[in-house]
Amino acid sequence: MTDVANDQDVVSVIHSQHEEIERLLEQVSVGGPGREDVFDSLRRLLAVHETAEEMAVYPSLRSLGDDGKAVVEARTSEEDKAKKVLAKLEGMDKSSAEFTREFPAFQADVKSHAASEEAEVFPLILRTDQKGRAEMAKAFLLAEKMAPTHAHRMAPESATGNMLMGPFVAMIDKVRDAIGNRRD
Ligand SMILES: [Fe+2]
Ligand SMILES: [Fe+2]
Repeated sequence: MTDVANDQDVVSVIHSQHEEIERLLEQVSVGGPGREDVFDSLRRLLAVHETAEEMAVYPSLRSLGDDGKAVVEARTSEEDKAKKVLAKLEGMDKSSAEFTREFPAFQADVKSHAASEEAEVFPLILRTDQKGRAEMAKAFLLAEKMAPTHAHRMAPESATGNMLMGPFVAMIDKVRDAIGNRRD
């Protein structure tokens, strides 16, 4: 990844990750032999995306006042619910009837969560100046670097890649550490 973080706006970073998430959701729902790999990419991207939102974006929206707090509470509770479902889905055989039955509700929830962010979170982010938005974007790009969304393209000996191949909750912890350390 080239170092263009200074030029990035967090709104466009979030928007393009939403498009990628939607594409991966669609691919998982189609099924087929690659489903397990696509699901791995999806959970990795969701770990990066939701953790970066929670750590880099939501705190400053909360500080905007009651309207900011209300929007953040609503989005955070959607994310908590989705995380629980994702943790359950990752334990299932991806070719099972059970997974195929459970996945569409998850797909619909994640899509509607992203749509609510675009409608309600984006206008709040845009109250922050461009410098602040570029600063938030850096956290997303750092998180992406820590947990690449296409880890299977990485060399197998890559410690970072291996470390982040694990379950969803462990990935969230790694991303949290990465963003947290950057701030210290
Ligand atoms: Fe989110
Ligand atoms: Fe999002």
